[in-house]
Amino acid sequence: MKILAIESSCDETAAAIVEDGRKILSNIIFSQIEVHKEYGGVVPEIASRYHIEKISEIVSRALKEADLSMSEIDAVAATTAPGLIGALLVGLNYAKGLAYREGLPFIPVHHLRGHIAANYLAHPDLTPPFTALVVSGGHSHIVRCDDYTDFTVVGKTRDDAAGEAFDKGARILGLPYPGGVHLDKLAQKGDRLAVAFPRVHFENGSLDFSFSGVKTSIVNLIHQKKMKGETWDAADIAASYMHAITDVLCENFMIAATRDGMKNIVLAGGVSANSMLREKVLKMASEQGFSVFMPPLSLCGDNAAMIGAQAFYEWRAGHLGDLSQNARPTMAIDLNFM
Ligand code: KG4
Ligand code: ZN
Repeated sequence: MKILAIESSCDETAAAIVEDGRKILSNIIFSQIEVHKEYGGVVPEIASRYHIEKISEIVSRALKEADLSMSEIDAVAATTAPGLIGALLVGLNYAKGLAYREGLPFIPVHHLRGHIAANYLAHPDLTPPFTALVVSGGHSHIVRCDDYTDFTVVGKTRDDAAGEAFDKGARILGLPYPGGVHLDKLAQKGDRLAVAFPRVHFENGSLDFSFSGVKTSIVNLIHQKKMKGETWDAADIAASYMHAITDVLCENFMIAATRDGMKNIVLAGGVSANSMLREKVLKMASEQGFSVFMPPLSLCGDNAAMIGAQAFYEWRAGHLGDLSQNARPTMAIDLNFM
């Protein structure tokens, strides 16, 4: 089963061909980072316009790299939610049009399910059940995956996502957009115990997160230092800030996996590229006896191969879309498209 998949939920225009949910035949990504850099963040209208300009070329390149023609493709998939609505609509409508023209099934895919599925591409032996920590620019979820299309959220952020907190921290330290990766590099040279940033844990066994406090805390710290005319060690602050955020992510993640009696744990989403998070998850997992799976760095960020991987399992479960399928800016991961 060869699926042509499209991803356009944010600022990457991407197309890929994936076989049977596990094998990448091609994976093309056009990143708009350079375009949005000067604004310090993604400008939704500009993202949509670039998707429109690029999508045909990216899909053609995906076919060419896989050395396939459309007649050899069995289904077309696209990220359908969640994401920037105008951006999603470009990929979704292109995919629906292509499926209609070729007489192929169309498979709508949830973006976060796709991030989890990136792991199927890298780890042939990984099968559900497992507990996943899904951390991206817009989401921080702990998800129990009982099957390929059966998800239960066991914890999530009540305010900002981890990626958002990293990006804000990076910005206040004067690092370029997108901040997370630059903050990660800077933190590697710093002392993670230099500053005690707050860590929020909720009562009554809740595994939810809150990162707005730690975000405000780094803003206030830099502001106060500026007011007093003091200097600061940006690497120490970056390392301490990252230490606080990754501690909470890892602690709740391990509790969730233990509570649900899981043997396998899975890291997913753009923030899963973070070196401190990867290091801590590996350490805690080995101490607590979990087998840990994480995507290679090349599949952590947004890409279409992960959408093609999840699409295979959605198709197998009979979760197909039709030409009336609309995009949604938000959608819970446990819901299926109707
Ligand atoms: O999954 P993703 O590529 O896009 C969304 O679906 O949101 O995640 C993007 C997020 C951004 O906040 C980015 O700064 C963060 O992932 N990120 C990182 C690293 N690489 C990307 N955060 C921390 N450390 C990194 N190495
Ligand atoms: Zn993403």
